[in-house]
Amino acid sequence: MVISLNSCLSFICFSLCLWSRTASSLNLEDPNVCSHWESYSVTVQESYPHPFDQIYYTSCTDILNWFKCTRHRISYRTAYRHGEKTMYRRKSQCCPGFYESREMCVPHCADKCVHGRCIAPNTCQCEPGWGGINCSSEY
Ligand SMILES: *[C@@H]1O[C@H](CO)[C@@H](O)[C@H](O)[C@H]1NC(C)=O
Repeated sequence: MVISLNSCLSFICFSLCLWSRTASSLNLEDPNVCSHWESYSVTVQESYPHPFDQIYYTSCTDILNWFKCTRHRISYRTAYRHGEKTMYRRKSQCCPGFYESREMCVPHCADKCVHGRCIAPNTCQCEPGWGGINCSSEY
């Protein structure tokens, strides 16, 4: 009996439910949300051909044993074992220059916008009458 190990290995995933629970609350459709693939491992049960010593009988000239002789051969049965399997999930996070605030990605300005608001990474939009990189200069 010829068994190819590769064709006999099959994986059953127990931990697929972990996937949705650990996913980020950020919505990929929202602006300034970036994603990357993250690997994680799960415990799986895999089947494999386990060899065992099979005893069988053949007819032979052994009179004392009623013309039956004992023979051995290596046979295989399906057994199961625990294994590790690497899975991938999409992880969302704020794009560079943005940070998470109330499940949204908002731009980060290294310089606080003194009289204005941060509209893009390191970009302040000044209130009328104010200017400069951080809206601290009066016009
Ligand atoms: C705003 O920018 C000026 C220089 O342009 C700097 O002197 C000042 O400390 C900055 N203020 C803040 C709050 O970052």
